[in-house]
Amino acid sequence: MSTIDGVGAVIAELQRFADQATSNPKLDEMEAAVRELWRRHRADEMRRTLRAALEASGAKLPAADFDAIACGRVDAEDRSLTAARLFLESDLNFLVLAGDFGVGKSFGTLAAIAELYVKPRVRQWAADVEAKIALGGFDLSKSPAENLALVAPPDATARVMPLSFAWWLGSALSSTWEPWREERARGAKQGNRSVPVLVVDDLASEPESDRETAALEALVEHRLTRKTIFTTNASAAVLRGRYGLRAGDRIGHLGRRVYIEGPSRRRGSAW
Ligand SMILES: Nc1ncnc2c1ncn2[C@@H]1O[C@H](COP(=O)(O)OP(=O)(O)OP(=O)(O)O)[C@@H](O)[C@H]1O
Ligand SMILES: [Mg+2]
Repeated sequence: MSTIDGVGAVIAELQRFADQATSNPKLDEMEAAVRELWRRHRADEMRRTLRAALEASGAKLPAADFDAIACGRVDAEDRSLTAARLFLESDLNFLVLAGDFGVGKSFGTLAAIAELYVKPRVRQWAADVEAKIALGGFDLSKSPAENLALVAPPDATARVMPLSFAWWLGSALSSTWEPWREERARGAKQGNRSVPVLVVDDLASEPESDRETAALEALVEHRLTRKTIFTTNASAAVLRGRYGLRAGDRIGHLGRRVYIEGPSRRRGSAW
């Protein structure tokens, strides 16, 4: 079929929807019901979609943190969040977000990613839902809720997230990365190290291994043209001692290390 035929078919289909909508009062009623349902639940649906997308990132954060970010209960002035946001808006490729525990490195990173990458997609998804509602074409044998579900792709979340948090091992793994075979066999998750934004949360908290220097070098090599955030409690000296100079040299050339000092934002200590 030529492109012209394709466009013609789409126009004919749209016309069919329009004709049905004007000629069938039951379809008008259904459209009104679906529209009302969406209007009432739109905000909840968007939060739920955002929440699911954040969780699908694989970030190892407490459930309450996903809720807080999805509901906008976020301190937008926070230094970790600001550092992550500025980095994501910059031309830099690497950020080492170092600092004391609990200063908001992981939370701020995910909140910045939510703001800049995920929310726009959720908004686009909502606009798509609305466009589809406007086009009608509902199934009268189904309820308004079922019709709305038909309109809203159930796996919208899977397509919302262009990035993944990756557990250190996961991020360093590739199908051909033999040194990590044992860990994989023990169930270490394989991350996708080609995502547009990769977060390696808690660098240097993984068990020490004689392969980690090579693994980090390989990862950095792979990420030279993309954005990567490392969060870590380790000092520059510890990172140097543990991963050698080569990876740090490349990261420093294409990025920055930011140190966030301060008290933990967590509520309290058990001891
Ligand atoms: N910008 C923020 N707005 C609201 N709450 C925040 C913010 N940043 C952090 N918090 C709160 O502080 C807690 C600790 O933050 P987070 O887990 O990001 O710390 P961290 O720096 O990654 O710590 P660690 O080094 O121990 O991994 C979060 O669970 C969250 O409740
Ligand atoms: Mg953390």
